[in-house]
Amino acid sequence: MAEQKATNVTWHDGEVSRDDRYRLLRQKGATIWFTGLSGSGKSTIAVALETALFNKSKMSYRLDGDNVRLGINKNLGFSEADRTENIRRIGEIAKLFGDAGVISLSSFISPYKADRNEVRRLHDAANLPFVEVHVDCSLATAEKRDPKGLYKKARAGEIKNFTGIDDPYEAPENPEIHLRTDQMTLQQEVEIIIEYLKKHEIIGARHYTRANDAPQPVAAAR
Ligand code: ADX
Repeated sequence: MAEQKATNVTWHDGEVSRDDRYRLLRQKGATIWFTGLSGSGKSTIAVALETALFNKSKMSYRLDGDNVRLGINKNLGFSEADRTENIRRIGEIAKLFGDAGVISLSSFISPYKADRNEVRRLHDAANLPFVEVHVDCSLATAEKRDPKGLYKKARAGEIKNFTGIDDPYEAPENPEIHLRTDQMTLQQEVEIIIEYLKKHEIIGARHYTRANDAPQPVAAAR
């Protein structure tokens, strides 16, 4: 767990509550956490799910390994400590998105169980849904797909510490959703996640969709 460095800092609540935001957006915030090998299909599923949710008027936002590593996490590499810090920051960002009422779609290899469990703990403590999705395919399949040609480079020794080759991947034991991307279609995978979101009333709950439950104005304190 990261250490709290700043002292004399306290959380400041606003006048608009999380529930007010949920009513405004007609959905609940949540984190869908895709974990799996490079090339397993995490980003592909996140992109298709984002489109499917958008077409249902649901607000989601993708947090993607490569994109985030070009921005907020540009100072992190692939050592164990850097991967842990990568996931810690994304976990905190996903938590903020969830509190805002957005469904974040996080696609990171996130190879270490302890790091993912820490993000889960963070969400549990904040009373936000954390949906771990194991995007699973064999290493052989991921290596055959090799969309970025990185496995080839890793095998040639041009990339060090590559997950699955010379760096570990710890599969989740009890993910909320397990997708075998070498046995399912993209459409089936998206459908399974949408059904999960409905079943857990993250989307489609009646009290967030009835017209007479439109957000009520919030009184300003001054
Ligand atoms: S994580 O391990 O810290 O979760 P993350 O998902 O952010 O990794 O980034 C993985 C992406 O970085 C891969 O899809 C690949 O494009 C690229 N990459 C570059 N070097 C490595 C490496 N050594 N191991 C894994 N992925 C790498």
